[in-house]
Amino acid sequence: MYNNWEELEEACKNCKKCKLCSNRTNVVIGTGNKNAKLMFIGEGPGADEDREGIPFVGKAGKLMNMAFQGIGINREEVYIANIVKCRPPANRNPEKDEADACLDYLRSQVMLVQPKIIVLLGSVALKNILGEEYGITASRGKWIEKKQIKYMPTWHPAALLRDENKKMDFWKDLKEVKKYMDSLM
Ligand code: URA
Ligand code: SF4
Repeated sequence: MYNNWEELEEACKNCKKCKLCSNRTNVVIGTGNKNAKLMFIGEGPGADEDREGIPFVGKAGKLMNMAFQGIGINREEVYIANIVKCRPPANRNPEKDEADACLDYLRSQVMLVQPKIIVLLGSVALKNILGEEYGITASRGKWIEKKQIKYMPTWHPAALLRDENKKMDFWKDLKEVKKYMDSLM
């Protein structure tokens, strides 16, 4: 675990703990407010993220930004990261050894940001953070509280690009998150 950002970022940039290191252009650590109340966790960088070094800047990210705008969530105010920090080849799901190797960094990020709410974007985020026993279809839209953090699992934004019907759920879940965020102030 890392208890300061400088060491954490330095370690990530030089990391060779898993095989995803061999094809990356950039390590995608995270973006946004390092004191955010609200954090989002996705799966892993795609081609655009790998090129820019910033999470959720591609198609899925643009869709997420649109939802943020519509609901009144300011992207600059939240913190966004992924389960793995290097791009899996052909955007396949991260494998267990890769997620396990990378998770220590994400746990340090959560410890440093100290969010009150974490939105888990899709099955990979849900299972790696809360456990293999959780399924996204059954869990989405329902708060799960653990160690004083409220988790909201929802669809991954890329899933919305494949299935229009999931957009409504995604919006509903983010609205619920925004409502709870506002109640904290
Ligand atoms: N999909 C993810 O899970 N994360 C990103 O950063 C981009 C796309
Ligand atoms: Fe290291 Fe994570 Fe990149 Fe693997 S995915 S090389 S563990 S930073």
